[in-house]
Parts: sequence; structure tokens; C-alpha cells
Amino acid sequence: MTQIIRTSAELRDRVAAWKRSGMLVGVVPTMGALHDGHMSLVREARKQSDRVIVTIFVNPMQFNNASDLDKYPRDEAHDLAMLEAEGVDVLFAPGVDEVYPDGFATKVSVSGISEPLEGAFRPGHFDGVATVVSKLFGMTQAGRAFFGEKDWQQLQVVRRLVEDLNIPIRIIGCPTIRETDGLAMSSRNVRLSEAERAQAPALHRIMTAATEQIRAGAPIGSALEQAKSDILAAGFHDIEYLEVRSVEGLRPMETFSEPGRMLVAAYLGDVRLIDNIAV
Ligand code: PAJ
Repeated sequence: MTQIIRTSAELRDRVAAWKRSGMLVGVVPTMGALHDGHMSLVREARKQSDRVIVTIFVNPMQFNNASDLDKYPRDEAHDLAMLEAEGVDVLFAPGVDEVYPDGFATKVSVSGISEPLEGAFRPGHFDGVATVVSKLFGMTQAGRAFFGEKDWQQLQVVRRLVEDLNIPIRIIGCPTIRETDGLAMSSRNVRLSEAERAQAPALHRIMTAATEQIRAGAPIGSALEQAKSDILAAGFHDIEYLEVRSVEGLRPMETFSEPGRMLVAAYLGDVRLIDNIAV
């Protein structure tokens, strides 16, 4: 049975009891609308911890666009059934007032690594992520936290945050789970029309081709230019960024001289898709 907990006081008692009996607690922070990408983190948490908490909180502070927040899919009953099936111990699903009570005044801001890419196009987004993740780590007191590589930059921001603030938790990064046609699973995919859903896998296909060219010696700049025009031809619009960055520190990479990551954000209709792959 997955127990639903909505207050941090109740959660603290539950976790304290686990810890007294020497158990390692893992947490998987999410915003719900769970899919197999989330569940892969849950399964990894199950493997690496004695007790698993999944948090579901659609964090208003990290949405820089009110309509994106309004349209964010929510289905707690469905999510709960998926968590039950994986043997999750606790679903922590606090309300907004529990996380941000009257008088709440603190913001956690990670500079540097959070500034390019998503940070440049979603001002304040990573402050919202860093703040809520800090709170979730404090509220759950977990020893391990599981994050997806799907949100590559977020994973790096969280790693920086726990190191900088000496938060006693180990961050585990997990690979991106894709549909069989290559589209990275995302809660936002349900908002794609049937036609857009058919176009969407082009993004991963084109990026894969570009990384192969770069590995074969093509200049990064020209491979990216070609990929951008292919992405637009595939029906996307407003490519916010398509870049290759260093794995360490997300520095811009003009030549293929160290392990890199190709990262993209682009719109299909009114749905903003992000993805990233190794170079
Ligand atoms: P959300 O988008 O719900 O994602 C929760 C976790 O699932 C993140 O670590 C994300 O990287 C991972 N994830 C999503 N799709 C995935 C996929 N296809 N394969 C593997 N992992 C995937 O990311 C957030 O929520 C929020 O920013 C949060 C960290 C919960 C803070 O509010």
C-alpha cells in the first residue's frame, strides 16, 4: 500500500521511524502526470533504497508562464495507481500552502550553470527548481535522490546545489526513457495533436544524425546549422536553442575536444519540447 502524506510534519515522523531502524530512504521528486520515464527513476530508487518516497508537487515557483502552469496535466488517482504497482511506500503530495506558507521569503539561486539554455529562455525557472528541491530534500530527509538525464541541465543544477549547501544526500542521474520511435517521454507529450505526435520523433532522429557527423569530424557549427534547418523542415518552430556543451560545467563547445552533450528546446504547435543526447 502506498500511503499518501500531505504535510511535512507527518512525513517527518514517518521518515524518522524508518531511519531509527537503519533504513536508507530514497526520494523521486516529480510534478506528477507520471509516465514510464518517471517510473524508471522509481525502479532505480527501489533498487538502491530500503524505502521510497515519490513527491508530486506542481511547483508554481518554477513556471515562468501562467498558462503553462494552468495547462500542466494533473491526475493524482492515475499516478497513485502507478506508484502502488511499483511498491512505492509514500506518495508525498503537499498543497501549495504547505510548501509556500504565508510569509515564505527564501529563494535558492544557483548561478553559472543555471544561466544558459533553459535559464536564458525561462527566467527564474531554476531558482524555482533549486528552491523547491532544497525544500523537498529538507522535508523528506532522504539519503538518495533520483533525477532524469532528460532534464540534463536541471540535474547539473541540483548536483551543484547539494555540493554548495552541503546537503547530505546523494544525487543519482538516470538515463532518458524514450518511446519506441525515439521521442523522449514527457508529461507534456499528451498535449501534442496526433499530427504533431507523428512529427515529434524527428527531433531525436535529427540530433542523433548530427552527433554522428560531429563524431566523424564535421565542425560542430555546421552540423548544428544543418540540424536546425532539418528540425524546422520537420514541422518545429522557434528553436530556442540547439547547442553542444561540455558535460563538465556546460561550457560552449566549438570543437569536439571533450565529452559533450547536444541540447535542444523547440516548439511543436504550442508544446515546448526539450531533449539532449551524448556527443
Ligand atoms: P518532472 O518533469 O515531473 O520530472 C521528474 C523527474 O523525472 C525529473 O528528474 C526528470 O528528469 C525525470 N524524467 C522526466 N522524463 C523522463 C524521461 N523520459 N526519462 C527519464 N527521466 C525522466 O523535473 C521536474 O519534474 C521538476 O523540475 C522537479 C525536479 C520535480 C522540481 O519541481
